[in-house]
Amino acid sequence: MKLHDVRRLTPITQEYAYFQSSGFSPKMEPVIEETARWARFHNAGAVAPGIHDKVLKAFEETREKVARSIHADADEIVLGENTTIGINIVANGIDWQPGDNVILSDKEHPGNRITWYSHVRRYGIELRFLPVVHDEEEMMDAFLPLLDARTRVVSISHVCRRTGQRLPVRPLIDVAHNRDVPVLLDGAQSYGAIPVDMRALDCDFYAFSGHKYIMAPQGTGGFYVRRDRIEWLKPSWIGSHSQKDFDNEGGLTLLDEAKRFEFGTRNLADQVGFGYALDCWQEIGWSNVFAYIQEYTDRTKAALQGVSGLVLHTPLSYEKSSGIVTFSIPGHTAAEIQERLLEEKVLVSPLEKDGALIRVSTHVFNDEGDLTRLVAGIESMVRSR
Ligand SMILES: Cc1ncc(COP(=O)(O)O)c(C=O)c1O
Repeated sequence: MKLHDVRRLTPITQEYAYFQSSGFSPKMEPVIEETARWARFHNAGAVAPGIHDKVLKAFEETREKVARSIHADADEIVLGENTTIGINIVANGIDWQPGDNVILSDKEHPGNRITWYSHVRRYGIELRFLPVVHDEEEMMDAFLPLLDARTRVVSISHVCRRTGQRLPVRPLIDVAHNRDVPVLLDGAQSYGAIPVDMRALDCDFYAFSGHKYIMAPQGTGGFYVRRDRIEWLKPSWIGSHSQKDFDNEGGLTLLDEAKRFEFGTRNLADQVGFGYALDCWQEIGWSNVFAYIQEYTDRTKAALQGVSGLVLHTPLSYEKSSGIVTFSIPGHTAAEIQERLLEEKVLVSPLEKDGALIRVSTHVFNDEGDLTRLVAGIESMVRSR
């Protein structure tokens, strides 16, 4: 498979200029077909000899592929349904005491907020918010005073979902680690969009989705836990398959691997489809994918900058951003812009119900025609005002 095949194999791109991969991406036909093939195969008799074992083997191969895609090892990977599961494994894996605190950024997705908000009520913890600003030094200066002896974890986006800004995570991690505070990165917007390397980042935890930039089946994702943090996290949700051994009197030994956080009957076919999507990117070449997203995003920024009155909210330099371009047009709500663009068959996301920010996420299936339609739609709206 080559980079240019992705558009041809993704049916929705024939009808829409699809700029919503940060929410959920469309899937390539072969990914859907492979997922369906495994679901059908499993359905031929999950308890018949040889069938379930084969599906389980393919599921474990997905774990290895996921691990390779972020430069981790398979025993550090939990396969789950989304990013939020990983965040919950951490949030519910700490022995909270009243007065403990957690540091979030002020621009987190509800998935990296709500579970912490509920812990304020449940355990009496305190939330501290780091303002996300474009100036990295200012962010670092604001970070240090938030940390103290009662900070148990920092849980922050790798890439900000609102503007696509890459947060200065490596320096934040270094500062937190100097105080023995672990860091959880919300990777929903970085995984598959920019290179991600667990060893280079040295975060303790990384939660991510398959259904965004990876274009894997809906309800696929994963969670990385650095090997030395596996024992540190208290297993809150466990069950059949989490154990190495147990007896009838209460004796229990959990698996040594991150897999101990998985339990029960799973949707294996979707996860195998996730693995297949990773095979496709591997064949295309990750460096080609990242280079295309970068080049297309830069062109999108340049084109939008040419629209009179439009305000760009994403940092211009690609090193500080990713595949997201966020803009507003004073005098128009995001809902109006979204509706007008829908008439042109251009799909974008308004960032909040009554707000002004529109998010465009670019992917390798977006072509010149998509960009022309996006810009023409916005220009015609601005002109008709
Ligand atoms: C930054 C961020 N975190 C978490 C999520 C939630 O992802 P999921 O639905 O896969 O749990 C999203 C979804 O858009 C997101 O953008």
